[in-house]
Amino acid sequence: MTEEEAFFTLYGSLVRAGPGTPEEVDWAMSLLNPHPDGTICDAGCGPGADLPALLSHVPEGRVVGIEAHAPFVERMQAAFSDEPRITARVGDMADLGGSFDAIWCAGALYFLGVTEGLEAFKPSLAWGGGVAFSEPCWFTDNPSPAAEAFWGDYDGITTHKGLMDKVWAAGFDPIGDQPVSDAAWEAYYTPMERRIAELRDDAGPELSKVLDEAELEIARWRAAREETGYLLVVAVPR
Ligand SMILES: C[S@@+](CC[C@H](N)C(=O)[O-])C[C@H]1O[C@@H](n2cnc3c(N)ncnc32)[C@H](O)[C@@H]1O
Repeated sequence: MTEEEAFFTLYGSLVRAGPGTPEEVDWAMSLLNPHPDGTICDAGCGPGADLPALLSHVPEGRVVGIEAHAPFVERMQAAFSDEPRITARVGDMADLGGSFDAIWCAGALYFLGVTEGLEAFKPSLAWGGGVAFSEPCWFTDNPSPAAEAFWGDYDGITTHKGLMDKVWAAGFDPIGDQPVSDAAWEAYYTPMERRIAELRDDAGPELSKVLDEAELEIARWRAAREETGYLLVVAVPR
């Protein structure tokens, strides 16, 4: 088994590819208030866990999931084959195209950078539209080494103020923010722990390494969750 195969043996089968709950989608969409017949884009949607909650906010509209990893897109196309108002396609969120009433981007904007990503999203927003995204954030000015270890070598992480500055620099005004809840992290990590337990006994060296790293990540988040996590930010173009 290659490293990549080992990675997707664990992560490719999970319902979510990051923390989140329908309640967080609801909170963000209540601020953006898309038209009932509008279109919402889920940028970097992973396996598509947020698509049904997003669809409930456009009861006569559509949701489009755009994701770089083709096997996730195939999974979504099978899972939502009887829901014509949900479509999923392989694409690059740096070039979303379209004209969307809202763009939701959970735990994926850091691939582009917050300012760069929001600038890239701007031409794809319909008039009156906005963006909701979650992004790594320090909840303290003095993160402990354990909190720093949680994010590894991601050096884009900043405080609430630093994150708001990145939003403003992109020409957006933040209209609301809240930390992604512990329940959202557990919605990601609890199924991951179950999957680790299923895979553990028969795991060869590559898979064992991936399982060990995932367990370490979960333990680190539980130790550091007061100090860091994701901030969910809702922002509109100025
Ligand atoms: C941490 S996962 C979060 C997935 C999903 N939003 C969720 O919360 O379950 C980030 C996702 O962004 C996707 N991604 C990264 N860069 C991308 C890009 N440039 N365009 C589209 N998708 C991208 C990755 O393939 C991955 O599925």
